[in-house]
Amino acid sequence: MLTGEIEKPWLGHKDPLARMAYWLTYLVAFIGIAASALRCWFAYTSVPMMKGNLCLILEDDFNGDSLNTDIWEYEVTMGGFGNGEFEMTTDSSNNTFLRDGYLYILPTLTSDVIGRDAITNGYTYNITGCTTATSNDSSTCGAVSNNTAGTVINPAMSARLNTKKSRSIQYGRVEIRAKNPVGDWLWPAVWMLPVNNTYGPWPMSGEIDIMESRGNGLSYTAQGSNYVHGSLNWGPLTWLNEVWRTTGWWTERRSSFADAFHTYALEWDEDFIRVYVDTRLHGMLQVNMKVPFFERGDFPPVVTNGTEQIALENPWVYGTKAAPFDIPFYLIMNVAVGGTNGWFPDNAGDKPWINGASNAMQQFAQAQDKWATTWPQDEYSRALVVYVLRLWDSIGLPKY
Ligand SMILES: *[C@@H]1O[C@H](CO)[C@@H](O)[C@H](O)[C@H]1NC(C)=O
Ligand SMILES: *[C@@H]1O[C@H](CO)[C@@H](O)[C@H](O)[C@H]1NC(C)=O
Ligand SMILES: *[C@@H]1O[C@H](CO)[C@@H](O)[C@H](O)[C@H]1NC(C)=O
Ligand SMILES: *[C@@H]1O[C@H](CO)[C@@H](O)[C@H](O)[C@H]1NC(C)=O
Ligand SMILES: *[C@@H]1O[C@H](CO)[C@@H](O)[C@H](O)[C@H]1NC(C)=O
Ligand SMILES: *[C@@H]1O[C@H](CO)[C@@H](O)[C@H](O)[C@H]1NC(C)=O
Repeated sequence: MLTGEIEKPWLGHKDPLARMAYWLTYLVAFIGIAASALRCWFAYTSVPMMKGNLCLILEDDFNGDSLNTDIWEYEVTMGGFGNGEFEMTTDSSNNTFLRDGYLYILPTLTSDVIGRDAITNGYTYNITGCTTATSNDSSTCGAVSNNTAGTVINPAMSARLNTKKSRSIQYGRVEIRAKNPVGDWLWPAVWMLPVNNTYGPWPMSGEIDIMESRGNGLSYTAQGSNYVHGSLNWGPLTWLNEVWRTTGWWTERRSSFADAFHTYALEWDEDFIRVYVDTRLHGMLQVNMKVPFFERGDFPPVVTNGTEQIALENPWVYGTKAAPFDIPFYLIMNVAVGGTNGWFPDNAGDKPWINGASNAMQQFAQAQDKWATTWPQDEYSRALVVYVLRLWDSIGLPKY
């Protein structure tokens, strides 16, 4: 029988310790919530946003039958672009084509065109439509294979497209939605170079890398297709590149950027450069321009090159504090194959060439059975596939 109230120990007893514990729980929870709110607020306000207005100057969704050559220029060469790359870049529809509203940049095997033996001995290949003929270096437009001399015909074909003559931005935004290629030693990239070498030859006038990756699988120890990189290349001399100070990456632990489309973005104004994938929370690179690049480099007054002593001068002395990233840059999209500049380090993976070897391309060509089998037959998987590209120029900012 019930007489009076049911005892509710959690309400009735006025044990001061229990009450304190009760309030303490709420106090701690409240402090936690307030602290995270503050943290979010400070994180939010510390993310610089672009000044000025953006003006869309290019939107290419790659619909239609063929690439818009009023916008895009093919770079056709066998020269390796100063990186010792092993592909030749063509203007052939074998390597660049539009399909179902997508742009494909597809690496192919040179052996499919001239046969395997011709690549390594007794053949001369001259590339049609070579765009580097004016550089007085005919070797970039043709190659002779000679087993004894250690020379080969570039064993892969691919493509490199740019907007140099049609579109450039000086501060602004770039967005590209793309799927990366699968295949060992493939090197897809979306990046920018200066229209004019205002501050001197590369890398003195800068380079902005929005996305670079490697087609090697997830087990590759030098960061395969589950990593994407963003970087700024700059330096006061042609052989002094300080890219290591301004480079970063984003990774998906168990999936690859070659599995699905992602959006790569660059935000660039006079105060900062940010490169990210899909969302600003997935940042690859953020560089604040408060520190001028010559100061950031922390260079000694004199550098030694062999027996030569070179007094270092600031090449950006007449630029803004963002120099060299204060001049017009144009866009490049390409898929390279291999190379000797160190993007593929000697100590990682089952790498069939040595970067320092004078016959590195021959070593690569001789190992074709090894790497060609990792390149999917399926063109969609093997290509850099681009869905849309947008380029905004920044207006309303002072430009120099
Ligand atoms: C394109 O590929 C086909 C098949 O591999 C080949 O026969 C043709 O010569 C290639 N075209 C060029 C320009 O390389
Ligand atoms: C090519 O050579 C000619 C004659 O020697 C020279 O005038 C010209 O400047 C050179 N062009 C380049 C791009 O080096
Ligand atoms: C083809 O390339 C070779 C090797 O670079 C070169 O010696 C030759 O002059 C080129 N031939 C033509 C017709 O351009
Ligand atoms: C191949 O290279 C060797 C060594 O450089 C040279 O002696 C030979 O004449 C070359 N062969 C041809 C066909 O050019
Ligand atoms: C690049 O330099 C050329 C020659 O000096 C000039 O005509 C052109 O306007 C410059 N382009 C840009 C984008 O600065
Ligand atoms: C020395 O400088 C020259 C150009 O001035 C460059 O080609 C060379 O790579 C440099 N050597 C070293 C070891 O940095």
